[in-house]
Amino acid sequence: MSIIYKRTSMCGELNINNVGQEVVLNGWVAKRRNLGSLIFVDLRDKTGIVQVTFDENVPKEVFDLADSVRSEYVIGVKGVVRERSAKNDQIATGDIEVEATDMIVYSESDTPPIYIKDDDDAADSLRMKYRYLDLRKPHMQRNLSFRHKLVKVTRDYFDENGFTEVETPYLIKSTPEGARDYIVPSRTFPGEFYALPQSPQLFKQLLMVGGTDRYMQVVKCFRDEDLRADRQPEFTQIDLEMSFADQDTVIEVQEGYLKRVFKECLGVDIQIPLQRMPWDEAMERFGSDKPDLRFGFELKKLNDVVENCSFKVFTDCLASGGDVRGICVDGGSEFFSRKDIDKLTEMSKHYGAKGLVWIRLNADGITSSANKFFAPEELAEIAKVFDAKEGDLILIVSDKAKVTYDTLGFLRRECAGRMGLLNDKEYKLLWVVDFPMFEEDEETGRLKAMHHPFTCPKLDQLDLLKTDPLKLKADAYDIVLNGVELGGGSVRIHDRKLQKMMFEALGLTDEECDEKFGFLIEAFKYGAPPHAGLAYGLDRFVMLLLGEPSIREVIAFPKNQNAQCLVSGAPSVVDDAQLEELGIEVRHE
Ligand code: AMO
Repeated sequence: MSIIYKRTSMCGELNINNVGQEVVLNGWVAKRRNLGSLIFVDLRDKTGIVQVTFDENVPKEVFDLADSVRSEYVIGVKGVVRERSAKNDQIATGDIEVEATDMIVYSESDTPPIYIKDDDDAADSLRMKYRYLDLRKPHMQRNLSFRHKLVKVTRDYFDENGFTEVETPYLIKSTPEGARDYIVPSRTFPGEFYALPQSPQLFKQLLMVGGTDRYMQVVKCFRDEDLRADRQPEFTQIDLEMSFADQDTVIEVQEGYLKRVFKECLGVDIQIPLQRMPWDEAMERFGSDKPDLRFGFELKKLNDVVENCSFKVFTDCLASGGDVRGICVDGGSEFFSRKDIDKLTEMSKHYGAKGLVWIRLNADGITSSANKFFAPEELAEIAKVFDAKEGDLILIVSDKAKVTYDTLGFLRRECAGRMGLLNDKEYKLLWVVDFPMFEEDEETGRLKAMHHPFTCPKLDQLDLLKTDPLKLKADAYDIVLNGVELGGGSVRIHDRKLQKMMFEALGLTDEECDEKFGFLIEAFKYGAPPHAGLAYGLDRFVMLLLGEPSIREVIAFPKNQNAQCLVSGAPSVVDDAQLEELGIEVRHE
C-alpha cells in the first residue's frame, strides 16, 4: 500500500501566525537549490508556493532524498514553520519557511516542456498541448477558482430569486442562433444527424410552457464559427428565462445579480440601475452596439459640414446616400506618427473602409491628408464640430452608414488601446436596448432576425412590418461591459398569430417553420405564458473581471484557433467500422 501523508495545510496559506506549528504539506517541486549543507525546495500547490529547508539536522537519507528531487517531482513534506531571517516580499508566504523533518517522493517528473511560472512566454501551441502543466501556474489556478466562485455566486443568487436549474439536452435539432451547427451522426437512423445546441433557446421556452416559471442553467453551447479572443467553439452560458416578465423585470433581476457578482467576486460596488442606451444612439455615438464607455472619441456626422466641399470623395459619397463621419482622438496628433496612421488606414480596410482622411491640429496650424481639397477655414470648421484642440487628431471615413460605424467604432477602441486608456480595473456596464428586429443578410439581401425569430417586436410599431421592416425595433437588450457583449436576450413572442407574421416577414414558408420549429409552435397552442430571458457568456464574464486578454485563459481545456483540442488531439479520424455503423462514407480528396 502506498503511503500518502495526511495534509495539515496548504502551501500558499502559511504565514507568520503559523510559526512554531508542525505541518504536513503535499505538492510539486517548483525549484530546488543545494547550498552544500542546506537544501531549499520551493513547494507548490494550488494555493501558492512555500519555501522548505533541509539542513544537517534531518537524517542523512532524508537529506539525500531532498537532494535527489527535481522540478515537478511530487512530494510530501513534514516540518515546522519558522520565521525567516531574510524575508521575501515577492511571495505571500515570504515571511516564513518550513524546516523539514521528513519527506516522501510520490512521483518523479521528466524535465517539463514548459516553465511552470506565470511570466513564462512559451508558445501558445505548447501551452495548449501541455495544458495540465500550464494549469499548475499560479495565475491559472487563480482563474479556475475565480470562475468557480462566480458560478457559485450565480447559482446562489438565482436560487434565492426563485430560479430552478434545469438541464436541457445536448443532442437536439438545430437551434436558431444563426451560427453553423456541430452535427452528430445517428447510428440508429443512418443518414440522420443531431445538432449540438448553439444555446438552449427553444428548450428554455418549452420550460416556460411547462410551468417552470423561472429557469437557469450553467450550460455548454456549441457554435462552429470563426474564432476570436472572445469566442470559442464550445463555451458556457449562464442561461435564464422568466415567465410573466417584461424587459424591466428581467433587467431589474439581472442588475441585482450583477451587483452581487461585482461585490462578492471583486469587492467592487456598482451603481444600479445601470444606464440604458438605445441601439440607435450607441451606433451614432460609438459606432458599435457594444460601446466601450471608458473613454470618449465619440463619432460625429459631418454630412452638413462637408456637403459643399470640393472633395469629390465626400460629395460623391453623400450623393449616393452614404455618410461622412469622424472621430476626434484627444492628444492623437502628438501620439500617432504618420506611419501609425498608415497602419490604422490599412487596418480600417478590414471594416470595408476604402480610405481614411486625417486632420492634425498642431502648434503650427491645422493640416490634413486632404489638404489639397480643403481651405484651412474648412478644416477649422470640421475641427469645430469636435471641439478639437491643439494636439488632437481627427479621423474621417465616408461610406455606407454601416462601414462608417464599423470602421470608426474599431478605430476608437484601437486608438484608445494604443494610448493606454483601457484600464481593466474600471468597469463600465450598460444595457443597449431597442435593437432593430431585422437586419439585411449581406449575401442574400433578405431580412434576417437580428437576435432570433422568437424575439418580440415593439408592438406599437407593428405597422412598420409592412412599410419599412428594417426600422422596426424589438424588445431585445444586451448587457455590455467595457466594449464586450457580456450577454443578450429579449422578450419572446408567445402569441401564435404574431409569430406567424414574423416568420412570414423572414420569408419562411409554413413548411420551413414546421420543419425547423414545429415543436415550439405546437407547444404554444397549449397555453404559453408571456416570457422573457437572456444569457450571459460565462467565459467572457470571467475574462473581463480578471482582466485577461482572451477567454482561453479562463477555460481549463480550450480549443486553439483551428478549433482543435491539442491535449487530446481532437478532431481525429475514426475507424472504418465506426463509419460503417453510422452509414457514413468519407471522401478523401
Ligand atoms: P447570444 O447568441 O447573444 O444569445 O449568446 C449569449 C452570450 O453568449 C456569449 N457567446 C459566446 N461566448 C464565447 N464564445 C462564443 N462563440 C460565443 N457566442 C456567444 C456572449 C453572448 O452575449 N439564446 C440567446 C439568449 C437569449 O435570448 O436568452 C443567445 O444565445 O457573451
